[in-house]
Amino acid sequence: MHLFHAPLGEGEAAVGVGTVGSSEAIMLAGLAFKRKWQNRMKEQGKPYDKPNIVTGANVQVCWEKFARYFEVELKEVKLREGYYVMDPKLAVEMVDENTICVAAILGSTLNGEFEDVKLLNDLLTEKNKETGWDTPIHVDAASGGFIAPFIYPDLEWDFRLPLVKSINVSGHKYGLVYAGIGWCIWRSKETCQTSSSSTSTTLAPINPPLPSTSPKVLVK
Ligand SMILES: Cc1ncc(COP(=O)(O)O)c(C=O)c1O
Repeated sequence: MHLFHAPLGEGEAAVGVGTVGSSEAIMLAGLAFKRKWQNRMKEQGKPYDKPNIVTGANVQVCWEKFARYFEVELKEVKLREGYYVMDPKLAVEMVDENTICVAAILGSTLNGEFEDVKLLNDLLTEKNKETGWDTPIHVDAASGGFIAPFIYPDLEWDFRLPLVKSINVSGHKYGLVYAGIGWCIWRSKETCQTSSSSTSTTLAPINPPLPSTSPKVLVK
């Protein structure tokens, strides 16, 4: 939590869950975004059957799986000659009222390059202000999540940015861990709550436990 600068003031509780790699972490994060968006649209009496997610065309294939499994349209920002990651400006232009989140990658699978999450946060904040929407950001830090905090501590890509609501990271890409371990972390319990009613549940606790990585609230 401290590594990714989760807000841990009084009354704030970031939550996290061990997963089967970043792939499962991304399914959970995406599902939480989808359900939160659906709840918001329902409350406003608007249609909630055409969710979409905005990513760069360089996303790892598990994002395509997420979109297919959970019936979310994948809107990909095209790459161009000499620019092989998601362009934040084009991504924000693609956001509409049905966008459940924008997913940025910290460490593109194609070339390892970090996307500009700070610029994405700033542009999306402006758009949210103009439109009254509340589009959040997920950071897929599968490979960069344990590199950036140590090598680029001043790089703002994590929960220091207000719109970053969840982050996934893989453990098994680094060694000395169980094969296939990953994590999903939410900036607050509220951000992974998938129901607005009194039957409110969080996604993390319903994830089936893995040996030695059972889901738990990591920091209270
Ligand atoms: C950016 C990115 N996201 C997600 C994944 C999927 O990670 P995992 O193999 O931990 O499921 C990868 C794996 O290469 C990746 O590079």
